Amino acid sequence: MSAESSPLFQITDLRVAPTAQPTAEILKGLSLTVDRGEVHALMGPNGSGKSTLASALMGSPEYATTSGTVRYKGEDITDWGADVRGKSGMFLAFQYPQEIAGVSVRQFLRQALSERKGIDLSVLEIRLAIMEWMDRLDMDPAFADRFLNEGFSGGEKKRNEILQMAILEPELAILDETDSGLDIDALRVVASGVNAVRADRPEIGVLVITHYQRLLDYLTPDFVHIIVDGQIVDSGGPDLAKRLEAEGFEAWR
Ligand SMILES: Nc1ncnc2c1ncn2[C@@H]1O[C@H](COP(=O)(O)OP(=O)(O)O)[C@@H](O)[C@H]1O
Ligand SMILES: [Mg+2]
Repeated sequence: MSAESSPLFQITDLRVAPTAQPTAEILKGLSLTVDRGEVHALMGPNGSGKSTLASALMGSPEYATTSGTVRYKGEDITDWGADVRGKSGMFLAFQYPQEIAGVSVRQFLRQALSERKGIDLSVLEIRLAIMEWMDRLDMDPAFADRFLNEGFSGGEKKRNEILQMAILEPELAILDETDSGLDIDALRVVASGVNAVRADRPEIGVLVITHYQRLLDYLTPDFVHIIVDGQIVDSGGPDLAKRLEAEGFEAWR
């Protein structure tokens, strides 16, 4: 299959264990396909394997894939490192460093965008791109000159993440919302940011990983998947999100 006719992103029967404990499988045969233009929400209770999936998709050495494949535009990327994934158009929100002393949001974006595009962009070009997106995302322009993640609130971290996603123009974005202490402000930022980026580039595929049911009040995914004990136990449309809101994860345990 050519890159165009292959699904954008396809996880097939993925089994993942901690590298230090290869027999203690956490992901136990997880399959999931995200196509161009689709927004998928992967939701599950604590301990179901969401962060492990996020780390495995990032290429973290903490976890080992024991079987199964991850494909991006038809290519088997199971063994790719994080940097190659980023350059190829995958955006993994959590791959970016928590805090970099002395590096501003603007400097970081310029560096990341140069790497993504493989060209050096002028200071002016990057300034215009950042200004345009900060305006669209309703951000204070002063934010661009702050040091990356230094003293950022939960909502500001999310704004920064969404700004990165918008600027880097990925084909696939994976947002791990699991451990980020999401308040309502942050949830709205993520949801409206995803919607703004989609309005600009409808072909983007998005996978949002979360245990926070409330996200679904703000973001309407095309598909909802429920993960329990390392496997997807149910998939559906927005109806499934409604059922989840009414019944909680208990119904699937
Ligand atoms: N590095 C590790 N070594 C051993 N067990 C782990 C490791 N990482 C995660 N686990 C276990 O795997 C399960 C899933 O964890 P995690 O992916 O963090 O779940 P979630 O993000 O859905 O809350 C938990 O039982 C957790 O204790
Ligand atoms: Mg987690």
